Amino acid sequence: MSAVGIVAAAGSGSRLGADRPKALVELAGRPLVAWAVDTLLAGGVDEVVVAVPAADHDAFAAALPDGIRLVEGGASRTASVRAALARVDPDVQAVLVHDAARPLTPPAVVTRVLDALAGGALAVVPVLPVVDTTVAVDAVGTVTSALDRAVLRRVQTPQGFVHAVLAEAYDDLPAGEELTDDAAVVRAAGVRVTTVAGDERAAKVTVPHDLHLAELQVTR
Ligand code: C5P
Repeated sequence: MSAVGIVAAAGSGSRLGADRPKALVELAGRPLVAWAVDTLLAGGVDEVVVAVPAADHDAFAAALPDGIRLVEGGASRTASVRAALARVDPDVQAVLVHDAARPLTPPAVVTRVLDALAGGALAVVPVLPVVDTTVAVDAVGTVTSALDRAVLRRVQTPQGFVHAVLAEAYDDLPAGEELTDDAAVVRAAGVRVTTVAGDERAAKVTVPHDLHLAELQVTR
């Protein structure tokens, strides 16, 4: 099945304390966004569209190989993915949406997602179990309840969708509504989301410690 990868790379990276957009921060000498694009292509997508901050278009173009399409991202992740999705050819059968902030995702995760779509899933996310005891708290931080971790999962990217399903769900999503991932967008449209095994190496780089851990993995 034909598949296009979208990389959400238009975030600021303020929590990383970097002097540039997070996706341009380097891991072992290469920008995070380049790692994410490579993972998608190595895992089996046919081409990649990257949502980038408008002001940094040229820097992203220089950081990525020829043939990668760049689109201007939006003020939220949802807006950035929406902008990239609008540029995907209607004939493409599947779309995988990936975070630039997950540079060390193994290509095997991409392949698992593609295989699930080929097997008939409409929407599929890679997940990992929750190993810590997990609680809910009130406004002042007092624990109000403990959640049953056996039924909880941590959701990663890339998340895969039948193209028409994702496009229709974004069309139905009110402008300005912000969700933290794309599975939430299709779930809002009533679509069943299935899961495949994620990978600890697909961890998200958010704060400086995450980047340090990623550096250790690459150089080990
Ligand atoms: O901020 P967070 O790490 O959750 O962002 C997840 C991904 O979404 C990052 O790869 C980031 O570049 C992207 N993003 C985006 N457009 C925004 C905000 C975040 O593409 N406006």
